[in-house]
Amino acid sequence: MPYRDLREFIKRLEMEGELRRIKAEVDWNLELSHIAKINEERGGPALLFENVRGYKSPVFTSAFASTSRLALAMDMPKSSHLVDLMREWVKRTANKIPPKWVADAPCRQNVDEGDKVNLLKFPVPKFYPRDGGRYFGTAVIEITKDPDTGWVNLGTYRMQLLDEKTLATNFIKGKHAELMLQKYRERKEPMPIAVVVGADPVLFLVAAARLPAFESEYDIAGALRGEPVEVVKGLTVDLPIPATAEIVVEGEVDPFETKPEGPFGEYTGYYSGVGAAPRPFMKVKAVYYRDNPIFWVTTVGRAVTDTHMTMALTYGATLWQELEAMKIPGIKAVYCPPEGAGRMIAIISVKQMYPGHAMQVGTAAISTEMGAYGLKTVIVVDDDIDPWDLSRVLWALSFRFQPIRAEIIKRGRSTPLDPSLPVDARDITSRIIIDATIPFEWKEKPIPVELDPEVRKRVEGRWKELFG
Ligand SMILES: Cc1cc2nc3c(=O)[nH]c(=O)nc-3n(C[C@H](O)[C@H](O)[C@H](O)COP(=O)(O)O)c2cc1C
Repeated sequence: MPYRDLREFIKRLEMEGELRRIKAEVDWNLELSHIAKINEERGGPALLFENVRGYKSPVFTSAFASTSRLALAMDMPKSSHLVDLMREWVKRTANKIPPKWVADAPCRQNVDEGDKVNLLKFPVPKFYPRDGGRYFGTAVIEITKDPDTGWVNLGTYRMQLLDEKTLATNFIKGKHAELMLQKYRERKEPMPIAVVVGADPVLFLVAAARLPAFESEYDIAGALRGEPVEVVKGLTVDLPIPATAEIVVEGEVDPFETKPEGPFGEYTGYYSGVGAAPRPFMKVKAVYYRDNPIFWVTTVGRAVTDTHMTMALTYGATLWQELEAMKIPGIKAVYCPPEGAGRMIAIISVKQMYPGHAMQVGTAAISTEMGAYGLKTVIVVDDDIDPWDLSRVLWALSFRFQPIRAEIIKRGRSTPLDPSLPVDARDITSRIIIDATIPFEWKEKPIPVELDPEVRKRVEGRWKELFG
């Protein structure tokens, strides 16, 4: 059964021993995020801060910092591996389920409009000392609509709290909300937007996923849940809003106005290097929220946080899906490690069937929509190696790989956040495809050192006798 809302997910986490309620008073200013980050580094549970200084409502963190909690979000066995979740994601999303309009809107239990709007009434944390301010949107979903086609997009883009009625945006070039904003600019109209904090966990996962343009994340969330997402019409904007959301902020973004945004501790573990930059911002018209709304945040910063886990699952699944759509035979598994935020490194195992097959897979990966952005290193391994088994991958890199068989691509689309490039030259990245397979065309292949199967069976049968 899918979760109806964030509350049901939190309840499940608690039942599974995956949640800790923090009852002691904690400051939203750095203290809360530091507790969350250290807890994540120690492999701790998700946290519900119930006593944030100066606030009555709670803050929820570290939802996806472990694979077991990601598995619970997808209603999969807790013991699932990240790759099992990716495989399941690819399978489930084949049949999209559009959202369902409903009348009941728990998210409207409290409504503030016009002068009554005050975003400071929510326990918005400041995460890192060098951050430009408090961040309202981390585990956030922004809903916008293409003014020409009506395509509704859900995206996770951070939002800085500038004052009671203003949120700064950070739509990176080419992201779907930014493409839509370009269209509103051409029309000389403000872009209506709804911001959701705290929804069914699957909805946040799809908002953070890189899905193809013109596809609504609502349909994909429905597919992953096996049931439609229930939506209501916005109060001041013509957008579908998740009915059971904790907090919804409505307003508009003027495409011609900017305010300084940032800096923010990025998922690379570094600051972007450009400091505060002029970016479009949202003027808030209405806020509505459930009683005792749960404010959901993620820590971001240096890997591995739940942001990295989210990206590893959703980006990896998208890359896998796009490779399958290319109908290349033999692809066994795809793994995009969370240490690389699911974006910078992809490891793909393939059952080679013809000469050049491994390199075809590598070049295909960087040509997908997913891989064409930021992906710098593709490692292709034979199908006897699980791509998530990094010890075996390193073995293949040591004993199957030859640097001369790697291909370097000099110019590709980069993320502006990649600190391995100079701050003023981050549009273009190079890429490397590392073919760590045994070349298919070799007549004489290296002879593997294997245990004798008969003797192996026999000694395994004597294990108790030998080791007690
Ligand atoms: C916690 C978190 C914060 C993110 N912040 C941003 C951001 O500020 N700007 C951005 O362009 N992408 C950000 N992303 C990545 C986008 O969510 C991701 O690229 C997604 O695909 C965007 O949606 P779209 O494909 O509909 O454009 C963030 C992802 C996560 C998980």
